[in-house]
Amino acid sequence: MENDSKPPPLVQIRGLSKKYLIKKSLFNKEYFYAVNNVSFDIQSSSIVGLVGESGSGKSTIGRLLLKLVQKDSGEILFNGKNIYKYTKEEEKQFRKETSIVFQDPRTSLNPRWKIKDIIEEPLIVHNFPKKERKQLTEKAITDAGLDTSFLDRYPSELSGGQRQRVAIARAIVLSPKFIVADEPTSALDVSIQLQIVNLIKKLQKEKNIAFLFISHDINLVGILCDYVVVLYRGEIMEKGDKEAVLKNPKHPYTKLLVASIPPKSPKERKNFKEIPEVFREDIKEGCVFFHRCPYADEICKQKPPVKTLKNQEVYCHFV
Ligand SMILES: Nc1ncnc2c1ncn2[C@@H]1O[C@H](COP(=O)(O)OP(=O)(O)O)[C@@H](O)[C@H]1O
Ligand SMILES: [Mg+2]
Repeated sequence: MENDSKPPPLVQIRGLSKKYLIKKSLFNKEYFYAVNNVSFDIQSSSIVGLVGESGSGKSTIGRLLLKLVQKDSGEILFNGKNIYKYTKEEEKQFRKETSIVFQDPRTSLNPRWKIKDIIEEPLIVHNFPKKERKQLTEKAITDAGLDTSFLDRYPSELSGGQRQRVAIARAIVLSPKFIVADEPTSALDVSIQLQIVNLIKKLQKEKNIAFLFISHDINLVGILCDYVVVLYRGEIMEKGDKEAVLKNPKHPYTKLLVASIPPKSPKERKNFKEIPEVFREDIKEGCVFFHRCPYADEICKQKPPVKTLKNQEVYCHFV
């Protein structure tokens, strides 16, 4: 019954992999998987948190989803359609309906352009008439929480939080359905982070935009997201509804992450029993978390199968 009423996911990711060459001699080519066999869905107007430590493949996934990086294998469907099989017209529509916000607005905004030119550019690319461009630019900056007096300024005259609002204004100016927000708060002061998180939440609610919110901060992911995907060394460890994954983590890695969230009360602390970190040797195959897992055993030298629970899926032999 539940499934009948659920609309199809906006983004469907199936077995997505991306490898990079690390050593190349005459006879020896070695690849490592920055992203390995990753599958998850993003529902329309939902916020999916992609969490993992630095180097775990988060940005690569974000870029793969927007075709800024070419995949090696797997499929990505947007609105039910394979993004690698677009016609020219469909490709243009895809570019219009998707956008990205980067971590550091100091480097992502052209310092020589006025704010209005930065926000307006996507409208020029998509051939909007001049009058409409002005109107949509003003609407976008207002929706991003800045008043229109900022339009005549330069990025250097703005604070970090204001610059990130400009990057968000640019990302929403074409009324997209899906935005990849790649660590959009990581370069900001803690006090400003929450403002940007609240802005993303507001845009999701009011404009029905779906977000992939990339972060290494499970605390922020818990505040903002509906669904959580936990990544380690390019592979999914656990994914599921936020409530399930954060209140009842099943994978040892998710448990370690969740144990790092500061508890609101001493009572809650009991639920998040910290597990000790253990360091073991690395193995070539099998579970990628083997070398740090407190519970690792012989069987973990084989790839863990996916275990499907009610509201989450876990890649661990012991679940
Ligand atoms: N163009 C590239 N060439 C080679 N290695 C890359 C390239 N892009 C990313 N990587 C590697 O892939 C891994 C994942 O990177 P990334 O997706 O940026 O991780 P994250 O965003 O989680 O920090 C890292 O080990 C990184 O060094
Ligand atoms: Mg990154």
